[in-house]
Amino acid sequence: MGTPTPEIGEKMKIVLLGAPGAGKGTQAVKIAEKYNIPHISTGDIFRKNIKEQTPIGVIAKSYIDKGNLVPDDVTIEIVKNRLAEDDCKKGFILDGFPRNVYQAEALLNITELNVVLDIHVPTENLMARLTGRRVCSGCGESYHVTTLEGRNTCARCGENLYQRDDDNEQTVAERLAVYHKQTEPLIEFYKAKALLKTVNGDQDADAVTAEVLNVLERL
Ligand code: AP5
Ligand code: MG
Repeated sequence: MGTPTPEIGEKMKIVLLGAPGAGKGTQAVKIAEKYNIPHISTGDIFRKNIKEQTPIGVIAKSYIDKGNLVPDDVTIEIVKNRLAEDDCKKGFILDGFPRNVYQAEALLNITELNVVLDIHVPTENLMARLTGRRVCSGCGESYHVTTLEGRNTCARCGENLYQRDDDNEQTVAERLAVYHKQTEPLIEFYKAKALLKTVNGDQDADAVTAEVLNVLERL
């Protein structure tokens, strides 16, 4: 008999790495839909808590507004609890976690991983992507002002679009600095563990998705 070959959905314990604006959220939505696995974005979890004015939201806002990382203990606890839920048993896609070596070490003690996808975009392209981003207040879909032609509602669900508080030039500059200092070292961290795959994020979003799916199908 032997061990049964795992189905594709059972090899989908994925971390998405990438700078702010690299397209992690955009790609995570597609992967989650295709493989029917939960999309866990620590940024989205914090923004929900901020909106609901929970104690975590109050703490998170003071860091996010400055472009800094929310403290590790708060963040790790959230991820640990989320990954313990039943829907994560077969797979998940982590978007925006881990963000420093301390978080990555903690994650090793929480779960195994199958792959870490690094979406690479040259730094000089990221400021324009982020300051021009508009997000749907209903379904969370991301847009860019250059393709909206003045529209301010979501093409999918019709709700209003808004600009994230941390998508202004000053906060984006700090987020990029924090990325280079604290998150970029994770590329070497995961390379050393033979988990890293790099995807070219500097192309049309559909082309990025095709490259991502190609990597995942070959796992
Ligand atoms: P988070 O929400 O994770 O923000 P981020 O990492 O800065 O990344 P973004 O969400 O801005 O970008 P993205 O890569 O998802 O790109 P997107 O697909 O939207 O975190 C926010 C804050 O929360 C952090 O600063 C921190 O304070 C805190 N936080 C979160 N996680 C934490 C953690 N683990 N520890 C501590 N603190 C934490 O795309 C961006 C734009 O580009 C959009 O307009 C989109 O339409 C466009 N776009 C996407 N793909 C393409 C493409 N291929 N070509 C052209 N445009 C594209
Ligand atoms: Mg995102």
